[in-house]
Amino acid sequence: MAKAGPVYVCAECGAVHAKWSGRCDACGAWNSIHEEAPAAPGPGGVRLPRSHRAAILTDLSSTEAPPPRTLSGIGELDRVLGGGLVPGSAILVGGDPGIGKSTLLLQAAAAFAGSGLKCVYVSGEEASAQVRMRAGRLGLGQANVQLAAETDLTGILTMLDAERPDLVIIDSIQTMWSDAVGSAPGSVSQVRSAAHELAGFAKRRGSAVVLVGHVTKEGQIAGPRVVEHMVDTVLYFEGERGHQFRILRSVKNRFGPADEIGVFEMTGGGLAEVQNPSALFLSGREERAPGSSVFAGIEGTRPVLVEIQALVAPSPHSQARRAVVGWDGARLAMILAVMEARVGLPFTGLDVYLNVAGGLRISEPAADLAVAAALLSAREDAALPADMVVFGEISLSGALRPVSQTENRLKEAQKLGFSQAALPERSKAAEGTGVALRSVPDLAAFAGSMFGAG
Ligand code: TYD
Ligand code: MG
Repeated sequence: MAKAGPVYVCAECGAVHAKWSGRCDACGAWNSIHEEAPAAPGPGGVRLPRSHRAAILTDLSSTEAPPPRTLSGIGELDRVLGGGLVPGSAILVGGDPGIGKSTLLLQAAAAFAGSGLKCVYVSGEEASAQVRMRAGRLGLGQANVQLAAETDLTGILTMLDAERPDLVIIDSIQTMWSDAVGSAPGSVSQVRSAAHELAGFAKRRGSAVVLVGHVTKEGQIAGPRVVEHMVDTVLYFEGERGHQFRILRSVKNRFGPADEIGVFEMTGGGLAEVQNPSALFLSGREERAPGSSVFAGIEGTRPVLVEIQALVAPSPHSQARRAVVGWDGARLAMILAVMEARVGLPFTGLDVYLNVAGGLRISEPAADLAVAAALLSAREDAALPADMVVFGEISLSGALRPVSQTENRLKEAQKLGFSQAALPERSKAAEGTGVALRSVPDLAAFAGSMFGAG
């Protein structure tokens, strides 16, 4: 066999390239490609002695009961997991350094221990004393969680095989290291091999394994994306550092709906659940300010109201700026184009800033109309009615399309004291939600009825 040369791997997405370049073709990340030793032939990684046996076949119709799920009692976490923790599942929790992953998982471990699970928390970053100190600060000093400060994967797997815990937390996957893999800790091959071994352990022993992954800024350390495909559930812990809100979002879940969110608040005593996120995202809203609209959105299975803010100002630059926080920049460009072509309101020469308040990130097309409403309100310098929510998808023709779960959106609006809603014609809404409906066929009609513009 020809000796394999070095390979070049992107630390963001794990794509393998034949030669080095400054930018990864696969994911577009800059400066993330670096050299790694070629993978060992055959399945690499740590080998535990195990006897060979034939794979076992079962029928689709076999009546094995599904494994029972365990609830932690932290409602926001249980919902994001799809209704509790599934035994034998591998879960990735990604997020920026310092966002609160270790805090969340220590609280989760303590909560699951309280529900009767045997929990092991392996820290590769902090000494046991540090973890213990944090637990003390969180008021969890008495929780029945076993700690290990270890980065050697073989040692950890041997301990886990002996202990057989129900839940293992590995904080973080980037610090795990096996000498069977010939590259530096944190490299793509080390991280993948560790994730593969730990996910394999979860399946073999029926333990749930949580892998913590830092989202990395510089290219030498592999990011959590390189192990997303190896796990059952991928959760990201998001939030602005300056804000105290944190959002746990499921982007993949084999055991429940994806796109579910759990909302937490970082307090002096750790993360606290936020039971009513709409109230939180709307708090501090200036009711009669131009450039603000309230979007009635759906996150996962739950309606959430959130304020969308826009600022439109004459641009001092030859090329006007478009800046977006919490929404998709390409979608903003589309809405500006529709506004110009179908409503006759150009934004040329105007800087446009768009912000989703509270640090939430929205990906629903249903937010189109709320974004357009905020932009129009900012451009016309006229406030929208303070008691109105807005939702609907905008098509390139300028027409509005109905979106899913109209009724849930309206119910949430009513619950929070809103009394009218602007929404697409033909939306399936039952009467009796107590919210007055202002159905509009297209964007031009919306602009006309709200602002007399267009
Ligand atoms: P941490 O869980 O260590 O983040 P990660 O594991 O994602 O890197 O959280 C670190 C931040 O959380 C730190 O800046 C302090 C803050 N924090 C609180 O505000 N309250 C608390 O009770 C705790 C434990 C941390
Ligand atoms: Mg940490």
